[in-house]
Formats: sequence, C-alpha cells, structure tokens
Amino acid sequence: MSRDDLTKIILPEEKIPKFWYNVQADMPTPLSPGLHPGTKQPLGPADLAPLFAMGLIAQEVSTERYIEIPPEVRELYKKWRPSPLFRAHGLEKALDTPCRIYYKYEGVSPVGSHKLNSALPQAYYNKVEGIKRLTTETGAGQWGTALSLACKLFDLECMVYMVRVSYDQKPYRRMIMNVYGAQCVPSPSNLTESGRSELAKNPDTPGTLAIAISEAVEDAVQREDTHYSLGSVLNHVCLHQTIIGQEVKLQMEMVDDYPDIVIGCCGGGSNFAGIAFPFIPDKIAGRNIRLIAVEPAACPTLTRGTFAYDFGDVAGFTPLLKMYTLGHDFTPAGIHAGGLRYHGDSPLVSQLYDDGLFEATSVMQKGVFEAAMLFAQTEGIVPAPESAHAIRTAIDEALKGKEEGIVKSIVFNLSGHGQLDLNAYDNFMAGGLEDITPSDEEIQAGLKGLPVL
Ligand SMILES: Cc1ncc(COP(=O)(O)O)c(C=O)c1O
Repeated sequence: MSRDDLTKIILPEEKIPKFWYNVQADMPTPLSPGLHPGTKQPLGPADLAPLFAMGLIAQEVSTERYIEIPPEVRELYKKWRPSPLFRAHGLEKALDTPCRIYYKYEGVSPVGSHKLNSALPQAYYNKVEGIKRLTTETGAGQWGTALSLACKLFDLECMVYMVRVSYDQKPYRRMIMNVYGAQCVPSPSNLTESGRSELAKNPDTPGTLAIAISEAVEDAVQREDTHYSLGSVLNHVCLHQTIIGQEVKLQMEMVDDYPDIVIGCCGGGSNFAGIAFPFIPDKIAGRNIRLIAVEPAACPTLTRGTFAYDFGDVAGFTPLLKMYTLGHDFTPAGIHAGGLRYHGDSPLVSQLYDDGLFEATSVMQKGVFEAAMLFAQTEGIVPAPESAHAIRTAIDEALKGKEEGIVKSIVFNLSGHGQLDLNAYDNFMAGGLEDITPSDEEIQAGLKGLPVL
C-alpha cells in the first residue's frame, strides 16, 4: 500500500508519549524572566505559589529536555489519545493541488479541542498538592469546558469567568461547563473588584480575556483552598501541548513523510507550540521546515505587536512577561474566533519568533470562514473558527504549491471542532461577517499602555 492510500494515520495506545518535550532545553536565546508586577524584579517560585501548584511552577522554569507525564494523566489521555492524523484527500482534490495536506485532529477529545491536554495535568498537580478549587477565564469556552471536565475527574470545584461576547454568542459552552459541574459567569462580572471597575467604565463592554484573567486571579488569591489556572500562554501549558507534535512526528514516519510546512492558529500560542515545538530541534539542526503561526487580522499580536514586557491581564495582577503584545488595554473586535482575541502571546513562542525560528501571518475573518466551509464540505468536519485560521493558511500554501508546480507536504493542527460555533457559520452564510483590522492609531494607542520598567 502506498502512503497515498491512507486516510487516517493511527498510532496504537502504547505509543502515547511518556514525556512532554521542553523547548526551553533547545532555545538559542534563553527566555527573559517573568517580573513581579509590583517590584518589577525577576519572579521566584514563592511569588507564583499563591496562584499555581509547585509541580507546574517547576515546569515553568525547567530546562530539562523531557519531562515525564504522570501515569495518572497518561491514563486519562488514553480516552482519546493518540489523536488521528488525517490525510485531507477531499480537500486536496477540491483544490486540485499536487501538495499533500495532513491535519492532526484534536477535536476528538471528549471536550472537542486540544485544551484537555493541559487541563488534565493542571488539575492533577493541584489535586496532589491539596487544592480544592480552581478559577479560570475562557474566551470561546473551549478552555473553560476542558478545565471543568478535568476538575470533575480530579474532584475539584471549578469557577469560570467567560468573556461576555462569547458567553452571549455560545450559550451551549456555558451549558456544557454546567454539565461538568462548574460554575460559569459572564466577564466582566459583579463578583470581583476588577469586574466591577470595568463595568463602571464601560457597562456595554464585550469583555476581553485580559479582564476575565484579572477576575479569575483576584478570586483565586482571596482563598487559601483555591488556585488559578491558565489555558494558554505559560510555559507549562505549551509544554503539555507538545504531546501533539510528538505524535505527529511518529505518524508522519508511519507514512514515510516529513512536513515542509507545519501550521497552527495562534491565540495565546499553546496549540501552535504543541504542534510546532517538537520540530524545533530539527529546524535548529538545519532541516528545511517552515513553522507558521496564524493569527486573526483583528488581533495581530505577532505581526503588528511589539516584543516587550507586559501584563497578562487588564488590571495588572499577573506577572510581567516578555512577549509580543498589543498592550493589555487593547480590546480586539468581537470576532467569532473568541479564543484568538488575546493581546499577548506565549513568551516561548514570542522568543522563538523573535529568533526567526517561526513565521507568522494574519488572516481576515471572511477568508477564514470560506476556508472553514470548504473544509467542512470536503472533509466533513466543521472546524472551530480558531482552527479555521490554520486551514486558511494551509489552503493558501497548497494553492501556492500548485501555482509554482512544487509538491509540498503540509501539516496543520485542527485544534478543535466547531459544532458549538454554528452561530458563527450561520452569520457567515447570511453575509453578516465583517473583515476587521485595527488601524495603526488603534495599535499605537494599545501600545501606549505598556508598563514602563
Ligand atoms: C479550538 C481552539 N483553537 C485554538 C485556540 C487558541 O488558543 P491557543 O493559541 O492557546 O492554542 C483556542 C482558544 O480558545 C481554541 O478554542
């Protein structure tokens, strides 16, 4: 059988990786340290202890290349891992491209996205350290859903602050969180000082991830039994997601192929990190491979932001992280890819991007939904609007290959399904979506709010 005959490339359960890959071991430029929000001095573990489990703090700063996945977590990964790698025969045919297109499908997880890869270990490390309750924020609701399930499986309470625009657009996500036993409120809420202050300034605000993070952090620091949990951006989250790319490498070997291009959408950076980081050692060793992060034109962090220290939230509670940022006051338009509406980016992704190991591109919302529709109609899976950003770029690259007569092997991360994002599709089909991109003045205004060090 030739590799072109295979549609899904499946690894047996025993091939679930036993270790996460830590890119910090291989970075040409080490990460700049996180800074304390008050003193602006480098953070120590004790500064993070009120928010995170020590097991996660250790991962945050580790430079060991491989970190063992706890057996309890690996056991739960078996519910859906290894996830399939699909060859997109239908899409290739529709594009009439000579390129081979593959997608790693993370939507097969019980919650429908890659987010459970990190939610489970985060809940696990908190549980073993005696924590009873986790708070978090969520954009589109995928992270909140994942953490709600992970908390239930490890017998923890879960409190989710959901960005208001998504809370209104995606009621079913809130319902799933409730099914898993979590509490979910729209953010800004009246439950926290930071929420009340935002509502006083702008009662009609659509909310942002930066506001919701302030609320979740404020809630967590007020209770001894509570920690905070973040679904992206931080080093330990990117670490957990590397299970994706490690599986992809094994799956590509099974069909005797190796990618020329690896693509992931980029919000806080975790699913992109997950698929791309395991290829970094090859890239550093001189392998000819392009790694492309795709962001929305409405929130162009890597492509139009600045590499600088900034807060992760709007109220300035979080540590200062050196990252590509649009400024923590930047309010992206209420696009449907709610999970990509974040002003900053993972420090790991940002540093590697600054060092030239990745490329970044931004795409407009309508083109994203055109790509999502074509994908749904040829491959059958309705993609999450976030993941559809990666599809847009994969299609563009496959069409470029066709034009240039170059056969390329393209792999993208289909980070989640969009069966609870149908409002967005309905809106698109009714012609109700707009292409939105911030003006240079808006970008400059956001950057004015960067902290002075
Ligand atoms: C399906 C999906 N993909 C991607 C993202 C973006 O996040 P990240 O960049 O951390 O992967 C989200 C965030 O909510 C998401 O729900």
